[in-house]
Amino acid sequence: MRVLLFTGKGGVGKTTAAAGSAIRAGRSGRRTLVVSTDAAHSLADAFDTPIGAEPTEVDTDVWVQQVDTQRRFERSWAELQGYLLSVLDASGVDPIAAEELTVLPGAEEVLALLEVRDQVATTEWDVVIVDCAPTAETLRLLALPEALSWYMERVFPVERRVIKALRPMLARAAGVPMPHDAVFDAVERLHRDLDDVRDVLTGPDASVRLVLTPESVVVAEARRAFTTLSLYGYRVDGVIANRIFPEGAGDLWRQQWVSAQGEVLSDVERSFAPLPVWRSAYRAHEPVGTAELAAFGAELYGSDDPFAPVTGEGPMRVDRKGDDVRMSLALPFADRPDVDLARHGRDLVVTVGSYRRVIALPSAMQRCRVEGARLHDGWLRIRFRHEREAAADSVGAGAEAR
Ligand SMILES: Nc1ncnc2c1ncn2[C@@H]1O[C@H](COP(=O)(O)OP(=O)(O)OP(=O)(O)O)[C@@H](O)[C@H]1O
Ligand SMILES: [Mg+2]
Repeated sequence: MRVLLFTGKGGVGKTTAAAGSAIRAGRSGRRTLVVSTDAAHSLADAFDTPIGAEPTEVDTDVWVQQVDTQRRFERSWAELQGYLLSVLDASGVDPIAAEELTVLPGAEEVLALLEVRDQVATTEWDVVIVDCAPTAETLRLLALPEALSWYMERVFPVERRVIKALRPMLARAAGVPMPHDAVFDAVERLHRDLDDVRDVLTGPDASVRLVLTPESVVVAEARRAFTTLSLYGYRVDGVIANRIFPEGAGDLWRQQWVSAQGEVLSDVERSFAPLPVWRSAYRAHEPVGTAELAAFGAELYGSDDPFAPVTGEGPMRVDRKGDDVRMSLALPFADRPDVDLARHGRDLVVTVGSYRRVIALPSAMQRCRVEGARLHDGWLRIRFRHEREAAADSVGAGAEAR
């Protein structure tokens, strides 16, 4: 079982690469599902066939699904929205404005990812391919449960009990409706759902492919995506360089493009190493329909097996040696001044530029103190030491002083 996510800047060919990969998987005898998290019906355009809310077979062993986010919304979030609407209403916000306010950014994409989780759970598929929206923002949103885990485990159940007991009084005092049990259930369910989705997408069978075109602006964004995806625990296992101008005779305009792209491509090969960089030429027409997509997939991967099990290190590793614990976090392309590290109770807070991840430390590490950290070769290595010994040290020092 493999889960592959395709992401990259707008218009670079994510949908085409996802669809081409799917055809290749299907034709190699793997039962394959492609899901788009994009509200636009672009998969239907790429396969050039209508697609429904249930998986639709479009080629040998290839099914495509257009998630019905409205239906998923009602199953997952309607309760929460209903509550928010009642609060806003009580606060005198115009109902239409309130409706707008409660549409969470990225909600549609998250709902589509819930569907991906459900499909993975059916164990019906050998390969599940996800055509993601342009930036990796939604994948970042999935870090929310981790950041809130302490709150959800400790504080939330208490608040829930307190509010339940005091509901009538609070409602009168605050002048806004207090959430009912169903709302708390919905919050809990949402938390669990996001957590599950993240587990699937950062799990040992999943990886992300960065799609780019060989232009410096696009590559710069792909680098940033690689950094933040790694920060949030997603494993990137390859780069797809699309729309490469084929070499050959031509006018000056074409020669210049070929040479400029060639330079960017060698830079991509060098800087993303050891990731494979799969290449695809700029075709004379749009690769639409199964035959074209099959050709696209064949050219892209050549003799490689793009669905082989995941190998190599993931973006986070913990090594233990006696009382010393070392955590390694992949942060490719990150610059030292942009990286910050802080310990916050039982959490470790890693900041890279404007992105922040709250890593809930495993219980065995909660009594560890951060001893030092360094960023080298795209890895942030953090040294921890068990408090037991640190405490013993300070007692020892105190005893000596006395
Ligand atoms: N190698 C190629 N040669 C020629 N046309 C291509 C190639 N790759 C993609 N295209 C075309 O470019 C357009 C954009 O591709 P696609 O829809 O796959 O990009 P996308 O990254 O999914 O875009 P969006 O960000 O809007 O989702 C489509 O019309 C597609 O057919
Ligand atoms: Mg697309």
